[in-house]
Amino acid sequence: MFEKLIEISIRLSSEKNLDSLLKMIIEYAIEFMKCERATVFLLDEFRGELFSKVGVGIDSKEIRFPLDVGIAGYVIKTGESLISNSPYEHPLFNRDIDSQTGFFTRNILTVPMRNVEDKIIGVFQLLNKISDSFNQNDEFYAKAFASISAVAIENARLIQAYKNQIELLEEAYAELKAAQETIIRQEKLSTIGKLASGISHEIKNQLGVVLAVEAIKKMFPENQKVQLYTQLIIDARNRIVSLLDEIRDFSKQKSYEKTETNLITLIQNTINLCQFDKDLESMKIIFTAPDEVEPIVLINSDKIQQVLINLIRNAGHASPPKSKIEISLNLSYNHWVISVKDYGCGIPDELKDKIWEPFFTTKSHGTGLGLDICKKIIENHNGKIFFESKVNEGTTFFIKLPVGK
Ligand SMILES: Nc1ncnc2c1ncn2[C@@H]1O[C@H](COP(=O)(O)OP(=O)(O)O)[C@@H](O)[C@H]1O
Ligand SMILES: [Mg+2]
Repeated sequence: MFEKLIEISIRLSSEKNLDSLLKMIIEYAIEFMKCERATVFLLDEFRGELFSKVGVGIDSKEIRFPLDVGIAGYVIKTGESLISNSPYEHPLFNRDIDSQTGFFTRNILTVPMRNVEDKIIGVFQLLNKISDSFNQNDEFYAKAFASISAVAIENARLIQAYKNQIELLEEAYAELKAAQETIIRQEKLSTIGKLASGISHEIKNQLGVVLAVEAIKKMFPENQKVQLYTQLIIDARNRIVSLLDEIRDFSKQKSYEKTETNLITLIQNTINLCQFDKDLESMKIIFTAPDEVEPIVLINSDKIQQVLINLIRNAGHASPPKSKIEISLNLSYNHWVISVKDYGCGIPDELKDKIWEPFFTTKSHGTGLGLDICKKIIENHNGKIFFESKVNEGTTFFIKLPVGK
């Protein structure tokens, strides 16, 4: 018997997973103690309950009951073992468990489980000794078995707790690292932003001189060469100004005043503006608006217009000349959804996250700031901006703005 017990002890001590360990304990107990069923009830001090998770043949249903119930409760309280060879006559016997599990208890041996500090961590219960009833000798071995099991359970719990701690630490570390990266990124971006806005202010002042070119252009209306070259200079100036405006908006991200605005009027005005945009010259911009309803929203119309212009220009850049750009406005639940659809090159999957990043651009003259600015503006309006895209078929950007004033 002792040899067997030592062998079991070695096996149990190598199992680190608590559930598997409990299962092992029960299987060995049934074999070692020659009984039909064994259960380990562990103490849940926090809830003042005993519980058992795994039982052979109990299809691992969890059984729970209060500490002061039944024989198990008595053993926990007194720390004394208890044998009953006619449990249905015993005043402490809890018939509920039999009726819950559909088992019939003929005899029962319950011993406390103590950890190395002699603290009771649960009880160990053996049911239905095969072809016999439980005696003092069984109690002796059951106690020995229980203490071996208790040590193994405590070890498994410690290892589990240790693993949980490490996991928590790792999670906290990952969060900290992510937060640190965000801060560094924001620092960098804000430095770049300040620098860029300083420079762009300076460049814009210097560009004032190009106004003189417009005067020269007017002075020589008949001279083809003067007309051509001055126009080139003026176009270049306009492009630089619009780049500088993007840089300015990227670095300035304050909250701004909002007024009640009709989205249909705003979109129509924006489309009219785009007609003067060189990059969109040959595009057919089509707008479909809902009938009857008045889409009034509380927005900063300049900012939302800027978002629309950015999206329409991106659509134009992605499309071959003379393509269609379709803009629509729809009510969806309690949001107005503006979509800007193009039939251009589309966005490949591997770039779908990247395009939102500031300074990401695939254009030789792009800043990569447009979508970052759009996102900030829409988020500032408690809205959402997202897109669907298929390579060689086109892209649709959606802006969702909350309905209401
Ligand atoms: N409608 C679109 N179709 C295809 N690609 C697009 C579209 N809109 C944006 N992109 C991609 O996203 C990138 C970033 O856009 P954006 O932030 O506006 O910067 P920029 O226009 O200066 O490149 C573009 O360079 C382009 O690759
Ligand atoms: Mg852009």
